[in-house]
Parts: sequence; C-alpha cells; structure tokens
Amino acid sequence: MDKHSPHYLYKLVGTNNRRDFLKYMAGSAIASVAMGYLFPQTSHSREVDLETLCSLYPENSSCQNYLPGFTAQDDKGHPIRADALKDSATPGTPIQVKGLPDNSVDYLVINTGPEIAQYAIKPICTHLGCTVKWHPDNNSFICPCHGSQYDNLGRVVHGPAKRSLPLITVVVKQNQVRLVNQKPAIDPRPAINAQ
Ligand code: FES
Repeated sequence: MDKHSPHYLYKLVGTNNRRDFLKYMAGSAIASVAMGYLFPQTSHSREVDLETLCSLYPENSSCQNYLPGFTAQDDKGHPIRADALKDSATPGTPIQVKGLPDNSVDYLVINTGPEIAQYAIKPICTHLGCTVKWHPDNNSFICPCHGSQYDNLGRVVHGPAKRSLPLITVVVKQNQVRLVNQKPAIDPRPAINAQ
C-alpha cells in the first residue's frame, strides 16, 4: 500500500475511515509520528512539521497556538475577520479572497450556518487552465475560454472540463481565516449525483 495514501494512515492508527481518523488525530500524540510517514521529507524541521500538521489537523493539541498559512484578505487587502465575514456572508455564495504569496484570487465557500468551509476554490479551469469567474446570476463559475461551468462548490456541471475546480485548505482559528496553499488530504465535496 502507498505509504503516502490516506488509507495507509487509517490502517496505521487502526481506523477504517476518515472521520474516525480525524477524531483520533485531533488529540493524539501519535499525530506527529503519523505525519512523519505521510510527509517524511518534512520530519527534520519542527516548523515545517507544525505547518503541515496544523494545516491538516488544526484541532490537534500541538496546534493550539499555531496559525498555519497566510491571512485571508478582502479585495482592498484588509485582513478578514471570521466573525465579520460570517455576519455578512450568504450560504452558498462564494467569497473572493486574496492572501497567498502568488497573489492569486481564490474563493471561500460558505456553508449553512453560515460557516466558513475548510477549503477554498482555486478558479483555474481544469480543461485548459483559463481563469473562471463567479457569476451570481447563474450561481456558477463560468470559463470564458470554452464555456465550462462549475457549481458553487466548483464541481463540473457543464463541459468540456471533466474535473472539479482545484482546492486549497482553509483554517479558521482565533477569529482569523488562514489560506494554506495545499489541497485538502481528501476532496470534501460530495459528488453532485450523491446529493
Ligand atoms: S479552458 Fe476552460 S473550458 Fe477550456
């Protein structure tokens, strides 16, 4: 079994699924050991270890005072406060943010609650890489190049693209919204036909 696959980690800690694994990892000292298996190249640097560990498992006890990633900013470059965002957000409507060092514009996903999802959408079309734009009137991301469309979670609803929009990780902590330029270990979006 591939040592870097999620299933290898599940087996390592004696669970069968992601939910049990996350519960286990949230408070466990073995987390750093398991992370060593998952990311052996980072095991020599405590700072890099914490960055990786706390991006994937922000509730882990080792991450209490660690904020991974970069501060999410609004279109004027002001830091976004989680409580203010939740007060103004509409569930189902993605929100543009900046903050990653490459100056990319990404989209926070707002779930019912409202809650800020633990992932954001990178608006890069999976057909040939054009930048897609959010169209509130259509409730979808639309690619200007060949017309691919994606729903508000970035899942394909109309080709030629075949794959969902890529994701980055979001950590909400200490009233901050942090952007981590790393895809989640597992795509958390349900398949469209599974809803
Ligand atoms: S690049 Fe987006 S549809 Fe072709």
